[in-house]
Amino acid sequence: MLRIAILGCGARGRTYASMMGQLKERYQIMATCDLVESRAREAASHATEEIPVFTNDEAFFQQGKVADLLIIATQDRNHYGHALRAMELGYDILLEKPAAQTLEQCEHLDQVAKEKGRKIGLCFVLRYTPFYRAVRDFLDSGRLGKVISMHASEGVEPYHQAHSFVRGHWAKTGDCTPMILAKCSHDTDLLCWFADSEIKHVSSYGRLEFFNKKNAPQGAPMRCSDGCEHRSTCMYDAHHYLGEKRRWLRMVMDGSETATDEQIMNFIQTSPWGRCVFHCDNDAVDHQVISGEMKNGVSVTFSMTAFDLGRSIEIYGTKGSLKGGLPWQVAGAHELWFRDHSTGEKEDVPVIHADEIGYAGHGGGDFGIIDSLDKLFGDSGILSPGLDGLAGHQFALLAERDRLSHV
Ligand SMILES: NC(=O)c1ccc[n+]([C@@H]2O[C@H](COP(=O)([O-])OP(=O)(O)OC[C@H]3O[C@@H](n4cnc5c(N)ncnc54)[C@H](O)[C@@H]3O)[C@@H](O)[C@H]2O)c1
Repeated sequence: MLRIAILGCGARGRTYASMMGQLKERYQIMATCDLVESRAREAASHATEEIPVFTNDEAFFQQGKVADLLIIATQDRNHYGHALRAMELGYDILLEKPAAQTLEQCEHLDQVAKEKGRKIGLCFVLRYTPFYRAVRDFLDSGRLGKVISMHASEGVEPYHQAHSFVRGHWAKTGDCTPMILAKCSHDTDLLCWFADSEIKHVSSYGRLEFFNKKNAPQGAPMRCSDGCEHRSTCMYDAHHYLGEKRRWLRMVMDGSETATDEQIMNFIQTSPWGRCVFHCDNDAVDHQVISGEMKNGVSVTFSMTAFDLGRSIEIYGTKGSLKGGLPWQVAGAHELWFRDHSTGEKEDVPVIHADEIGYAGHGGGDFGIIDSLDKLFGDSGILSPGLDGLAGHQFALLAERDRLSHV
């Protein structure tokens, strides 16, 4: 039985708590903490019995070590301090990505973890999806031969970009982390994982091109609810939260599931999510490309855009190539193909669909990582002391450093 405490019970922390609630025979939630009491209480409701609920990180840490593992799912800017404090108390940590805001901080976490013999796993949930697991297994089969180069892409999707990276938590990079870390560290992690290597040289370009004042329709007010005359034609109109985009509110509005239309209107009129997407204070990029070379010679390219949906991966080996993706991120949409260079034949590579094994969220990765916690952190867990996944963060942060040198 792995005993787990949760610090930060927002959208992510509560998702993990509810999944642990489905695995009560293996995981015991010991304590929860969030500045917003109702969130901490909701996470605690998945424990087997009444547990301590904290509304202050200091009070939580003052209890000492109350579990084997601490899940840290506070916001990006809190991770470094919370992780250091947790390691002082002797916790192993499942840390939400990104690990920290700078390369130096990430490397420091790794160093402290190694010195103290603590394990930090990052929530790189995509590694735990059936799709990317199938890619890794195919690589391990040796059928691709020697991997020479790789290409990956991520389409964030325009409304998702607007919700999270224009109006939302990750819009102002100084308060959180740059887009390439906040959103694409999954991808840089996967590229390192598939190449079995770390980045050596990297260059990157990208900017915020669309979601800014210069693209505002004429006369668009600061808020969609301020009588915007473009409401009926604007795909970013915040009133969509009343209808088909309502599910997005779950991540940012407490009680949205049971809120009345009047309460949602009030949210649109007063919260950051009601602002015109062309009149926000965002600086997160809406497109970025990377090209690089890994230490073992594998070359990699990656492209992120707000204006597509889904991830793809192409791996080119001496014996064959593997291509596939999560095109529309819906159940049943995983596709993966192998081309054998010697025969020219193409075959479908089977991927178990996440919904078939009860996996949900992030292509099955959210449940996948929780399902793997005891294999990672248990008595004979596979993680060793240090920050697992540091290589992907180094890749992303070095790419960002290069991008900034061009703008
Ligand atoms: N692994 C993934 O795929 C993935 C996906 C989305 C978000 N994330 C990351 O997960 C983290 C959380 O994201 P979220 O969407 O749940 O955000 P959120 O804002 O919903 O949750 C963060 C929670 O932390 C709480 N908090 C903040 N400071 C605190 C403190 N000092 N003490 C206690 N609680 C505190 C907030 O009240 C909030 O409830 C972020 O770092 C984000 O980048 C990861």
